Amino acid sequence: YEVVQRPAKVEIVPGTTTEVWGFDGTFPGPTFAVRRASPVTVRVRNELPVPTSTHLHGGVTPAGSDGYPTDLVVAEGRGFRPPPGGHSHHGMLVDPSQWTLHRGARDYAYPLDQRAATLWYHDHRMDFTAPQVWRGLAGFMIVGDDEDDALPLPRGERDVPLMICDRAFEEDGSFRYPATDPSLLVSAGVEAAYMEGVEGDVILVNGAPWPVLEVSATRYRLRLLNASNARRYRLELTPGGRFVQVGSDAGLLATPVAHEAITMAPAERFDVVVDFSAYPVGTEVTMVNTLGTGPARDVMRFRVARRGREDSAVPGRLAEAEPAVRPTATVSRSFDFRRTGQGPEAAWTINGLPFRPGSPLARPRLGTTEIWRFTSDFHHPVHVHMAHFRVLSRNGRIPAATDGGWKDTVDVRPYEVVEVLVRFEGFRGRYMMHCHNLEHEDMAMMADFEVV
Ligand code: C2O
Ligand code: CU
Ligand code: CU
Repeated sequence: YEVVQRPAKVEIVPGTTTEVWGFDGTFPGPTFAVRRASPVTVRVRNELPVPTSTHLHGGVTPAGSDGYPTDLVVAEGRGFRPPPGGHSHHGMLVDPSQWTLHRGARDYAYPLDQRAATLWYHDHRMDFTAPQVWRGLAGFMIVGDDEDDALPLPRGERDVPLMICDRAFEEDGSFRYPATDPSLLVSAGVEAAYMEGVEGDVILVNGAPWPVLEVSATRYRLRLLNASNARRYRLELTPGGRFVQVGSDAGLLATPVAHEAITMAPAERFDVVVDFSAYPVGTEVTMVNTLGTGPARDVMRFRVARRGREDSAVPGRLAEAEPAVRPTATVSRSFDFRRTGQGPEAAWTINGLPFRPGSPLARPRLGTTEIWRFTSDFHHPVHVHMAHFRVLSRNGRIPAATDGGWKDTVDVRPYEVVEVLVRFEGFRGRYMMHCHNLEHEDMAMMADFEVV
């Protein structure tokens, strides 16, 4: 595959034009349908005025293709100088040896030796992931496999990836991000606008505000992704309805679970089936965000346009069950996600440390399982690269059903203690964990770990 990152003008708010920075000039970028254990190489060509790094979120990817924040692609004819004084834009210390530059384009290798799952790719550039994803650098990669194919779940046009994210717009339709001049980011007053992460007041689904999907009165598989920088959603269907969850971040659940509502933190995915035969033809079913008010409540509509054929089902057993059991003897580690320091010195840190490329906080062994304990002072959606995990407990209690299945991102809520069982399977090398509130990520809430 080859994709070109380039600016493009699109119509998002009717009657206006928005310049996006998109993979192939589209927002979301192209959806890649790939197969388990059929490796692909994606050549990413950068024609944007800024350096980029592309990460496949949820991918079990060799470290060199993981989209490390200082491993950059710079457009032909553009310059890049490491920031002066060895400090990044947000003041993080970066050893000059940490920067890698690719001119024009580079190849990312994805072996995809992993279960069927809804993955997504997005920009991961040091200091600028949040504004660059905001401008459109994100898309889906859907991994299929025989185990998934063997199930009678809805397929084809009834298998719909839905990228949900919020944006704000200027009068003329351009994206509004609190500062367009990045140098403003570090001045104390403006930094406040970013502290809790940037939210927009309009919800987009696959790049469109409040869209309508015409559906038949039958089952649909909806692959929900929260691709927002910082916003959390509580999704519900009205008038009434249920989401039958069949998969989580990293693939199928053992058995389906019905939810009246789904709360999604940034980067989480929920693979759900909605049965529109529950509604008479002609009904408009809305998916709303009950954590939002005004336009931030409106997500999308489904118009039940015609009768449907009952040719799909949700079987009671979806995948080989692997219960999340607490091992008796294993390595445990704690990671505290917290804002430390005062005023302009304030940073979002992990264990009191701002991100320092090349200084791993942990060295787990390949092929082992560890217990990681996350604590926080705020909402921090904690994401681990390469290794997938199970949520073992929240505040010492058995987690809710929405925490089920293999995951790569967990919503750590204010003052919570969340324990996860992480399996280091895949590759040795340097990976990262970070808060997926993208402004927090850019403001240093990131850490290396090295699988040895
Ligand atoms: Cu979705 Cu390190 O990111
Ligand atoms: Cu990731
Ligand atoms: Cu955070």
